[in-house]
Amino acid sequence: MNNNQVIMSAINVSKSYYTKVSALGKAVEIKAVNRVSFDLHEGETLGLIGESGSGKTTLSHLLLKLIPLDSGEFRFSEEVNLQFRKSVQIVFQYTYGALDPLKTVRQLMIEPLKVHKICNSSAYEQTSMTLLNRVGLSEKMLDRRISEISGGQKQRLGIARALATNPKIVVLDEPVSALDISVQGQIINLLQDLKKELGLTYLFITHDLKIARHLSDRLAVMKDGAIIEIGKTESIINEPKADYTRQLIKTINRI
Ligand SMILES: Nc1ncnc2c1ncn2[C@@H]1O[C@H](COP(=O)(O)OP(=O)(O)OP(=O)(O)O)[C@@H](O)[C@H]1O
Ligand SMILES: [Mg+2]
Repeated sequence: MNNNQVIMSAINVSKSYYTKVSALGKAVEIKAVNRVSFDLHEGETLGLIGESGSGKTTLSHLLLKLIPLDSGEFRFSEEVNLQFRKSVQIVFQYTYGALDPLKTVRQLMIEPLKVHKICNSSAYEQTSMTLLNRVGLSEKMLDRRISEISGGQKQRLGIARALATNPKIVVLDEPVSALDISVQGQIINLLQDLKKELGLTYLFITHDLKIARHLSDRLAVMKDGAIIEIGKTESIINEPKADYTRQLIKTINRI
């Protein structure tokens, strides 16, 4: 058991989308997240795995309050609640156009500092440099445009932006899946180091059970909007309870 304090509890959270069927004009309900409950413990990495369309991104956007819930609730520790917008951050898959290619690294670093009033404008430069250095980027990058930096560098920049607010919980949605294998390894090592250094708690979303296994203290397996299995990583891998999980594990064993 992880005896650390519970930093977030999801209690029966649900979210449906409705799509129109053009011929009948009737709305069809997609239960993207269906009565999901789980806890996040302070300092852990919880890997959220499951096939495409199983509801992983929707669940994380609900947790971040980026979209409204239909029912259920998220409870956060008092410390997180006090400054929710700063305390819970997300790192997207930055390599796919999530960052404006015409902006400079400097402009993108200043954004979160401004929005969250992290420091005075006179300290923007120094704070940006410190954050870039923390993710292994040189301050020489400040005047580069996004279109002029590599996929791995974009991902590092995305991480630096998320760290600007000194978060407690970081949601990572497929942060390495668009990168070459060697760059994937570098970013994963960086994430591990940052977690230790800054005492972060991660919700790590991935299709890749191999990466999830390597990084996660616990795994949650999502299927059709529900968490069908959750537990310590090695218990899930060695003694999966659900057929679906068994199939997923077969897939990695073949790789
Ligand atoms: N804005 C939306 N409008 C309508 N349906 C949506 C919307 N966003 C997601 N969905 C549907 O909700 C379900 C869950 O989608 P979600 O993006 O959460 O899955 P996912 O597990 O993150 O998939 P992937 O691994 O491909 O990123 C899918 O059936 C998807 O088509
Ligand atoms: Mg997704």
